[in-house]
Amino acid sequence: MDRIRIVGGVPLRGRIPVSGAKNAALPLMAASLLSDETLTLTNLPRLADIASMEHLLAELGVHISSPTSSADASLSLRANSIKEPIAPYDIVRKMRASVLVLAPLLARYGRAQVSLPGGCAIGTRPIDLHLRALQQLGAEIELSEGYIKARCPHGLIGAHVVFPKVTVGGTENTLMAAVLAKGETVISNAAREPEVIDLAQCLVAMGADISGIGSDTLHVRGVERLHGATHPIVPDRIEIGTFAAAVAITGGDVELVGGRRGLIDAVADAFGQAGVTIEETTDGLRVRRTQDRLTGIDVMTEPFPGFPTDMQAQFMALMTIADGASMITETIFENRFMHVPELCRMGAQINAHGASAIVRGVSKLSGAPVMATDLRASVSLVVAALAAQGETVINRVYHLDRGYERLEEKLVACGAQIERVSG
Ligand code: UD1
Repeated sequence: MDRIRIVGGVPLRGRIPVSGAKNAALPLMAASLLSDETLTLTNLPRLADIASMEHLLAELGVHISSPTSSADASLSLRANSIKEPIAPYDIVRKMRASVLVLAPLLARYGRAQVSLPGGCAIGTRPIDLHLRALQQLGAEIELSEGYIKARCPHGLIGAHVVFPKVTVGGTENTLMAAVLAKGETVISNAAREPEVIDLAQCLVAMGADISGIGSDTLHVRGVERLHGATHPIVPDRIEIGTFAAAVAITGGDVELVGGRRGLIDAVADAFGQAGVTIEETTDGLRVRRTQDRLTGIDVMTEPFPGFPTDMQAQFMALMTIADGASMITETIFENRFMHVPELCRMGAQINAHGASAIVRGVSKLSGAPVMATDLRASVSLVVAALAAQGETVINRVYHLDRGYERLEEKLVACGAQIERVSG
């Protein structure tokens, strides 16, 4: 199994191109199932999760054409001859986002079977809210043999869906069901994440009738059919935030090309309070530290536009070397502090209790062999290692490959001493 070896201490300097957002790309790929015409997605990141979704869609019968040159980050998907609307266990268990094919399959084919995703490293992550919303739109749902078996022989019918809790995937599935339902659907307490907005905008480009995009109330008037479209994927705000943390922790100065401030306002505010500026440039965002030692600050994760849970681990890594204490509270997932013991192995002083962790800043971290169990936890160890004295070896690199495109290459270009070790 591959490992990543990092020798820390080099301030990052240069330019890093920002990739398209994985969490936007996955639902957008699933949206191709809603039309028999071609959906072309540009600015697509090349990641393991994207390959898993391609695999699932190809199994379902979607024709996928990849670019001939690796420089062309686009993908064309045409769902004009679906075989059986079944998403099997073997694929869904590798990637929870596979559940996003449920609504498009149901809306277009009147039935779908999707393996239940089960638990994951960061918590139980149920999909009850997805299923309840689809039932409100008229779907009959049965859970049996480990599968969600959904049917709507007479089509879906618009309804008022009120989410008791903000759910990104739940909003996306409901939106994809509503665009082909009969009549009007209102989604209240909808997720407002940029990736949800990106999906809604793509659906509109495909002929859907959606208003309220970007707000917490979406109005969808169902249409008979959707057509093809070409859609550029929004930049990855979590990649932007992750590189910003890497630059800040090393005391570097980097331009994140393609970065947009509006995607990361809460993160940029927190960085600002900690002593890191993120300012707009013509090509993206420039990140640099404004003070010698970072200041410890408190953050709490929240749905967008709040501080994202997907940036919690990286921000904690940054706070390990800040001056003073920082309290980090996780409100979205119940088991998302698995990076804490690993960061402590590198010399960090962190006490996690329930949903909060107190980080007491130390003057330096030291390299160590570490391992992590999810994507953002793994990358927080990369961030910490870039500032640590000596060598860090990170095991289970496959987590990083799920969510970061050409991570080592982008960091090496800014001076980092990082390499992948095979075997
Ligand atoms: C998406 C992101 C993930 C991010 C998360 C929160 C993708 C592919 N993944 O995940 O990176 O960390 O948003 O920003 O976009 N919940 C329920 N019942 C449901 C659905 C969710 O109780 O039916 C709970 C979850 O357990 C969690 C909270 O709601 O506590 C938010 O989850 P949700 O927004 O749905 O996350 P995902 O869409 O799975």
